Amino acid sequence: MITPIIYEEGLVRLLDQRKLPLEEVYIECRDHYQVAQAIRDMVVRGAPAIGITAALGVCLGANTIPASNFNDFFSQLNPVIELLANTRPTAVNLFWALERLKEVVLQNKGLELHSLKQLLVQEALKIMEEEKSANEAIGRWGKELIKEGDQILTYCNTGSLATGGIGTALGIIKTALWEGKRIMVWVSETRPFLQGARLTTWELRQCNIPHRLITDNMAGHLMQKGEVSMVMVGADRIAANGDVANKIGTYTLAVLAKEHKIPFYVAAPTSTIDSTIPSGHQIPIEERAPQEITYIMDRRIAPEKTEVTNPAFDITPHQYIQAIITEKGIIRPPFSFIL
Ligand code: MRU
Repeated sequence: MITPIIYEEGLVRLLDQRKLPLEEVYIECRDHYQVAQAIRDMVVRGAPAIGITAALGVCLGANTIPASNFNDFFSQLNPVIELLANTRPTAVNLFWALERLKEVVLQNKGLELHSLKQLLVQEALKIMEEEKSANEAIGRWGKELIKEGDQILTYCNTGSLATGGIGTALGIIKTALWEGKRIMVWVSETRPFLQGARLTTWELRQCNIPHRLITDNMAGHLMQKGEVSMVMVGADRIAANGDVANKIGTYTLAVLAKEHKIPFYVAAPTSTIDSTIPSGHQIPIEERAPQEITYIMDRRIAPEKTEVTNPAFDITPHQYIQAIITEKGIIRPPFSFIL
């Protein structure tokens, strides 16, 4: 089992996903500053994993607060939460997890601060366990959509590395294979951070799941030749109307899939649903450093001073989505996640 996030007393250990698949090394975070930096730098990534890590970051931050009464503690905890909230803007799991920890504090004002800090750790670990169970339920629901012989195109990394459990889209694929279904996975490399080429191939190899790596621009050609029978992706935030923010390039795949009458599925836990926003237009899209595009593995590939645009996510409008698979079941259009 791949374990991307480990909590030990006063310490968060993160499998450094920037180094995979060449090196399997963990970094150690001892305070919330280090956790925030690790999320920003994509040591850990994937919506559910970001949420879990941020929750543990709050626990490390809480331990550094010397306050002796609740009001002092709470006013010093707020900047800790704010620092973690300002790491990455798109995946809603981050804000959802931080909100849960804040709520625990507010609901337990009367407790001794020592006990309150312990309660925060319990809540963060509970979030981690809940995400694991959600993955398994998503796998159970989603496997029914997969037929013998399917050739499934997936994008980015939605597996253990991104969730701490078996994964969302990848969890469905794993569950179908464990049930004995014969399937093949097309892994799109996912420029610029290469989550597909570096991480998804690494996970699928460990699970002995047949797969082939392609560059992102090959998807249309394979669909045209009838070699893709479904697209299965994850999500970073789902709006009330079912619009989905996911890794940049997801929208392109959705449009291609529609053109070729190939079902396009999104798998995500309900912690990824943001029912406070009506549509994808309100989802903030993270812009990342130009170097992610102008360099590959520390080697410059574009002339110096080349101007770059690097949005990390895009929005797939709900009309392109056949179904959203959550731990609660398979949801089909019209989508309406109560506002
Ligand atoms: O920038 P990343 O690697 O954090 O983006 C991850 C994705 O877009 C995933 O598809 C999404 O978080 C779902 S992971 C279960």
